[in-house]
Amino acid sequence: MNQQSKKTILSGMRPTGKLHLGHWTGALENWVALQEEYHNYHLVADYHALTTSLDTSELHQNTIDMVVDWLAGGIDPARSPVFRQSQIKEHTELHLIFSMLITKSRLERNPSIKEQVRDLEIEHITYGHLGYPVLQAADILLYRGALVPVGEDQLSHVEITREIARRFNTTWDEVFPEPEPKLTRFARLPGLDGKDKKMSKSMGNALLMSDGPEEVAQKLRKAPTDVKKVRRNDPGRPDVCLIFTYHEKFNPDAVPEVREGCESGALGCVDCKKRCGAAISEFLAPHIERRRQYEEHPERVEEILRDGEARARTTAQETMSAVRDAMKLG
Ligand code: TRP
Repeated sequence: MNQQSKKTILSGMRPTGKLHLGHWTGALENWVALQEEYHNYHLVADYHALTTSLDTSELHQNTIDMVVDWLAGGIDPARSPVFRQSQIKEHTELHLIFSMLITKSRLERNPSIKEQVRDLEIEHITYGHLGYPVLQAADILLYRGALVPVGEDQLSHVEITREIARRFNTTWDEVFPEPEPKLTRFARLPGLDGKDKKMSKSMGNALLMSDGPEEVAQKLRKAPTDVKKVRRNDPGRPDVCLIFTYHEKFNPDAVPEVREGCESGALGCVDCKKRCGAAISEFLAPHIERRRQYEEHPERVEEILRDGEARARTTAQETMSAVRDAMKLG
C-alpha cells in the first residue's frame, strides 16, 4: 500500500506515567499492530490531564515514562509521530472554534464526563473539563484522523467529534472527515486484586510493563485465586481465576494444560502462578531491554518528541489554513 492511500489514525492517552499490562492489552498492542497498515499519530494528551488535576509537577516525568513505554512496546517514531498536544498551539485554536459548534447542554449529557464527575466526586465542573471532548475533537480532526482506536468508554467522545465535524462541514466547507471509532478487541484486563476489577494504577492492582521478573513473581504471589481451591489437590475453576485470564493472554500455548491441571487438582496455585509469572516476564523481556536503552539515553526521547512535534505541527498548520480559508478568517 502506498503512503497516499493509507488512512490516518489518531491515538492518544493522558500522561499517567509508566504503563501497565491493561494499557498494553487495551490499547498499545493495537496501536503497534495498526502502524503497519495506517498512518498513525500518537498524541500525549497533556492538556487533557489538566481537566482532573492542576498539579503539573510530575507532568513532564509522567510524559517521558509513558512515551518510553510506547517506544519500548514497539511504536516506531520514524513512521508514527509521537508528540505532546501542548506543544502544538493549533490544538488550542481549533478547540476554540469547535467550542462554538456544540451546546453546553449537549456536553452535559456526555456519559463519560458524567461518570468521571461522579467517580471523582467533582462538585462543580470547570468550563475546560466540560469541554474535554471538544479538545479531543480538535486532536482528532487537526490530523484529519479517519479512525480512532479507543475503548468503549471513549465512544461518546468520538460521537461528539463526528457531530462537530458535520457541523463545521455544513456551516462552512467540507474540511473534515467524520472519524470512525475502532474498538479494541481485548479491552479489559483484570487487576491483581480480583477478576471483576479492572487493572489500574490508582487502584494499586497493576503489573507494570517495566516490572522485572522478581516484581512480577512477587505481585502474582499475593493475587487471589479460586476461593474454592483451598489445598493443592482440590479441583479449581479456571474461568473464575484471574491468573487463568493472564495465562490466556500471555501464555496461550499452555492454556489447555493449565486448565486441565487446575480442574483435576494436579496443578497447585503456587506452581500455576510461577508458570504464569515466567510467561509474563518472557513477554516483557524485550520491552524491558528496549526501555533500558531509552533510560540510558533520555536525550533520545526528547529528540523523538521534538521530531514528532515538528511533523505533527506541519500537518496541523495545513489543516488550520484550510479551516481559516473555509471560514474566511483573515
Ligand atoms: N480521552 C483519551 C483517554 O482518556 C485521551 C485522548 C485525548 C484521546 N485525545 C485523544 C484518545 C484523541 C484518542 C484520540 O484515554
